[in-house]
Formats: sequence, C-alpha cells, structure tokens
Amino acid sequence: MSEAQTSFTPRVFSGIQPSGGLTLGNYLGAMRRFVQWQDRGQQEGFETIFCMVDLHAITVWQDPDALRRQTRELAAGYIASGLDPAKSILFNQSQVPEHAQLAWIFNCVARMGWMQRMTQWKDKAGKNTQNASLGLFAYPALMAADILIYHATHVPVGEDQKQHVELTRDIAAKFNHDYKVDFFPETEPVIEGAATRVMSLRDGSKKMSKSDPSDMARINMTDDADTIANKIRKARTDPDALPSEAEGLEGRAEARNLVNIYAALCDSDIASVLKDVGGRQFSEFKPMLADLAVEKLSPISSEMSRLMETPDEIDRILGLGADRARAIAAPILARTYEIVGMIKS
Ligand code: TRP
Repeated sequence: MSEAQTSFTPRVFSGIQPSGGLTLGNYLGAMRRFVQWQDRGQQEGFETIFCMVDLHAITVWQDPDALRRQTRELAAGYIASGLDPAKSILFNQSQVPEHAQLAWIFNCVARMGWMQRMTQWKDKAGKNTQNASLGLFAYPALMAADILIYHATHVPVGEDQKQHVELTRDIAAKFNHDYKVDFFPETEPVIEGAATRVMSLRDGSKKMSKSDPSDMARINMTDDADTIANKIRKARTDPDALPSEAEGLEGRAEARNLVNIYAALCDSDIASVLKDVGGRQFSEFKPMLADLAVEKLSPISSEMSRLMETPDEIDRILGLGADRARAIAAPILARTYEIVGMIKS
C-alpha cells in the first residue's frame, strides 16, 4: 500500500503535567473523561494512551524531589480515577526517548512565527521573553511529538490546549507536504464542554487552579472527607435561592459553578439538576453537594494515598507502560528518520 492511501486507525492520546497537586478540575475535566475514552476504546478496539509529561513540566523550574513526587502522585491519580494499566498505556514521557527525538525533527519543521503566536507562550513567558527558557518556546513542538509519535488521531484536552493541537495539525501537514508523504495524521482536538470547566470556590470567574494562593479556592484530589465538606460549606455564593432553570444562573458565576460541579459529579447536566434543586437555599444545597463530592472523591483520594505508600509499585507500572509505549513509538520514529533522510544505524 502506498503511503498516500494510508488510513489511520483511531487512537487516543493525552497528557497532564506533573507540575503540582491535582484538583477537582483535573478530575472532572481530564481524568474522568480519560476513563470514558478508555472504556470506549475497550469496546471499539482502539488504544488509549495517557502520559505524565515531565519533559513539559521542566520548561519552567521544578524542584527535582517535588517533580519525582508529583509524577508518582499523578500516576496514582490516574489509576485511582479508574485508568487501568492493563487497558490503557500509562507512562512517563521522559522514559520514552522517542518523544524528544521526534520533537527535534518538529523543531525543524515548525516556524518561529507559528510558535510566537501561541497564546500560552505569551501568557507564560510574560513581558520578559528573553529570560524564558528555549524549552518553553518549543513546548508545542514537543506536544506535537507526544501526539504524533503514536499517530494519535484524537486528543482530549481543555479549551486552553486547542491551539496547540491545531499547531500539531499544521506540523503534520507541513511535514507530509515537505516530504511528499501521508505519514502523520491530522489530529482532532476533542475539547471538553463548558460543563467540565471547574471554577475557583472563592471567585467564580477564575479557573480552579493548583497554583491559587488560597487552598480554600480548590478541592484537591488528596483532600479528605472533612476538608472537602468544609471547603464546600465555605464556598462563596450569593444570598438568593437556586433558580429552576439554567437562565436563572446568569450573572451568578459562583452559584453556576457549584451547580455545575454537582451536575458533573452525578453525570447529569445543569438543567436537570436545577429541576430537582430549584428553589432551595444554599444552606440546603451545599450539604447535598458536599455529600456527593465526598461520596465520589474520597474513594479516589484514599486509593491515591494507598498507592503512594508503595512508590516502587508505581514505578514498576510506569516502566511497563513505557515499554508498551516504546513498542508503538520506535517504528514510527524509525520511519520518520528514514523519510527525513537519516542513514540507518
Ligand atoms: N500541554 C498540555 C497541558 O498543559 C499537556 C500535554 C503535553 C498534552 N503533551 C500533550 C496534552 C499531548 C495532550 C496531548 O495541559
């Protein structure tokens, strides 16, 4: 079969940076959806691959011991959320050197102008671009390599990563065009709906973030039941009762966020939740939300702490995942080198 006729089998890839603690936002926005993809992959017979992108994390300074701990914690979070190393490939980016190798090729395909337009680069580098790392600038080329080293076709990510997945398509298209091949697929970003965007508990206009100075603004995946309940009790709201329809949440960012979290935790949507809880005061709704959050999250946080007690076991699982990932990545890198004109070793 000539390469022009290659068709790409569906394959899902996504990654999370091990650059800090995991929040409810990571769980609802990423991990829970990864588990749904894993289950679909099992039914429909496609591969699902989830990575801890430590090479991306060091584009800004990371303390080495903290990075090691956070990488294991992220792996524990993946597994505790329901990703099964027997069903999905779970691994650590730096253990599969083909990512960095393909990233170099892509550094030579991508244009400076493309990189300069990336909004994440502009945000993260800030005013002092001269002092940002070269890795931070090249970040999207490494991300393209993460995806394309597996010929992944579907990439579930948050809205903030859409531009990077589109750049991945541009890199694939330019590579295919320059070398006259149809080798890399044009990957689809699969963007999470607004429904999974979890906002701060203190300010409904800000994303729930691991870097928020106030721990009360977020629910961490490692919080115990009392902490979760307390944070929800103290969450900022307004004095009005809950509306019966979604329109009634307009201009009430904090109220909307809590209803949204409730809906996501019970796999429902805002409209159906409001049908049940419309008319209630927050004094009544918050305990309902706290119970639901504890019911869903505390098994995950206790499983995470159990897994963290045996870091060797986590490392073993990641090692096996890396072997499986390499089995896919190595032939794709070898073919890429051949296309580019590198002599075989
Ligand atoms: N840039 C992504 C983020 O910060 C993480 C990431 C790196 C990623 N490589 C990826 C996500 C490949 C999807 C696919 O969220």
